[in-house]
Amino acid sequence: MWYIVFSALFSLTSAAVFYAELTKVESFRERLVRAGEWENYLREKEAHLQKFDKSESQSTLYDYEDSEYVINITIGTPPQFFVVLPDIGSNIFWVVDKNCPNCEYPPPNGDRFDPSQSSTCNETGKTYHIAYGDGSAGSSGDVAEDVLTIGDDQNFTVQNTAFGLASYFHNFVGASEIFHPFDGIFGLSPEQDANVSSPIFTMIEQNLLDQSIFTFYLQRRGHAEGVPAGRLTFGGIDEENCGPVIGYANFTLPSWYYSILVDQVAYKDIVIKLETDNLARIDSGNAWIFVPNEIFNKYIVDVNATTDGSYYYADCNATTDPVIFIIGGHEYEVESQQLITDPENDTCRLYIGSGLGLGDPFMRSYCHVFDIGNERIDFAKPKA
Ligand SMILES: *[C@@H]1O[C@H](CO)[C@@H](O)[C@H](O)[C@H]1NC(C)=O
Ligand SMILES: *[C@@H]1O[C@H](CO)[C@@H](O)[C@H](O)[C@H]1NC(C)=O
Ligand SMILES: *[C@@H]1O[C@H](CO)[C@@H](O)[C@H](O)[C@H]1NC(C)=O
Ligand SMILES: *[C@@H]1O[C@H](CO)[C@@H](O)[C@H](O)[C@H]1NC(C)=O
Ligand SMILES: *[C@@H]1O[C@H](CO)[C@@H](O)[C@H](O)[C@H]1NC(C)=O
Ligand SMILES: *[C@@H]1O[C@H](CO)[C@@H](O)[C@H](O)[C@H]1NC(C)=O
Ligand SMILES: *[C@@H]1O[C@H](CO)[C@@H](O)[C@H](O)[C@H]1NC(C)=O
Ligand SMILES: *[C@@H]1O[C@H](CO)[C@@H](O)[C@H](O)[C@H]1NC(C)=O
Repeated sequence: MWYIVFSALFSLTSAAVFYAELTKVESFRERLVRAGEWENYLREKEAHLQKFDKSESQSTLYDYEDSEYVINITIGTPPQFFVVLPDIGSNIFWVVDKNCPNCEYPPPNGDRFDPSQSSTCNETGKTYHIAYGDGSAGSSGDVAEDVLTIGDDQNFTVQNTAFGLASYFHNFVGASEIFHPFDGIFGLSPEQDANVSSPIFTMIEQNLLDQSIFTFYLQRRGHAEGVPAGRLTFGGIDEENCGPVIGYANFTLPSWYYSILVDQVAYKDIVIKLETDNLARIDSGNAWIFVPNEIFNKYIVDVNATTDGSYYYADCNATTDPVIFIIGGHEYEVESQQLITDPENDTCRLYIGSGLGLGDPFMRSYCHVFDIGNERIDFAKPKA
């Protein structure tokens, strides 16, 4: 009894729970599509990847094309402001260096970090490197340490945070001036880099968090730009937006991204039991879910989808049954409203593809609690 009282008091007065509001931005893919550059981009990228062993490239390929949720942070004293992409698919936190000589495609706001303007910035003598396949494209530079703040009012401070200062950033875009919607990447994947810890591990090491977890709550925002779109909570469950935990899946480690085992995928009367290849990547940087081919084929027929070769489209009012993922004995539904979205001229795009993967439509359907300590992801229904 006394113990319970004591621990309750203790948890109130020790570490804490912090959050940052997520803002929806137009993804890099959307920007390229709008500018008519998407096909060019894909050609350049494919040509680049052709030069290397495909299987190897794919195993280490970081893609930010579909990412559309960003947070505000500051680094340094006085604070320098950045918009970064919280990315569960990569492990390194980096922003662009003030003096990056070959950042061919600077970030949108031109926000770059100037170490000489921060009285608290320390060099580490280490370097980082995050690559597309062979490393000739990607981001690399020195690793520094400085004060990081996160959140609306920048009141969550992490001392001695290691981060990469990109002196190189290349991402296959041709002559066009189309930029990524962010100044840097805030890597949150479970794999530890030798030279630059993911900020989530730094927070855990410094005992800043109530629990060794972070929670993603994502909202659907269609084409809207610059609007609130959810919350990233460090150290706890997002109790304001998420209900109780209804089930979980273990991480399948070691891995540079979060993947889990899916037992079955069901849609209407089709139930596909996955015996092999049932590892699904959870990815906030992917706008799609991927399901076995038989389900995909039935789905596009049921919603009368049409295609232009790149995308599938359907009437925005089209509805059909949910797709159900069975994970660790629990059923998780993704409603058609999550998959038929982004209206344009009364036509909506379909965010379901063939394969197996759990991108934004799944992440919007359930709050994800990434439990680093217990190496599992807990799922909860959003309250709204
Ligand atoms: C940050 O400030 C907000 C508003 O003042 C407050 O609600 C929140 O609890 C603060 N967070 C922390 C971690 O102190
Ligand atoms: C860590 O930094 C050292 C020193 O710059 C470098 O030689 C090494 O390749 C880096 N390791 C990684 C994994 O980037
Ligand atoms: C992020 O910063 C921009 C620019 O200062 C501001 O307009 C926006 O409201 C901020 N977003 C959040 C969620 O704090
Ligand atoms: C810089 O290094 C000094 C000495 O190791 C340390 O006391 C200080 O906390 C570091 N500052 C930051 C912001 O990392
Ligand atoms: C698809 O087309 C058929 C025949 O035109 C129609 O009966 C059905 O309601 C349509 N389904 C949807 C989801 O629009
Ligand atoms: C979709 O439904 C809304 C409201 O029911 C209606 O106003 C709209 O015309 C419908 N759109 C199409 C393309 O059928
Ligand atoms: C997760 O891992 C734990 C410990 O290895 C195991 O007991 C449990 O059954 C696993 N849960 C699921 C849903 O796979
Ligand atoms: C919507 O209409 C505009 C103007 O007619 C056109 O340029 C655009 O390609 C259309 N979009 C779609 C998805 O059909």
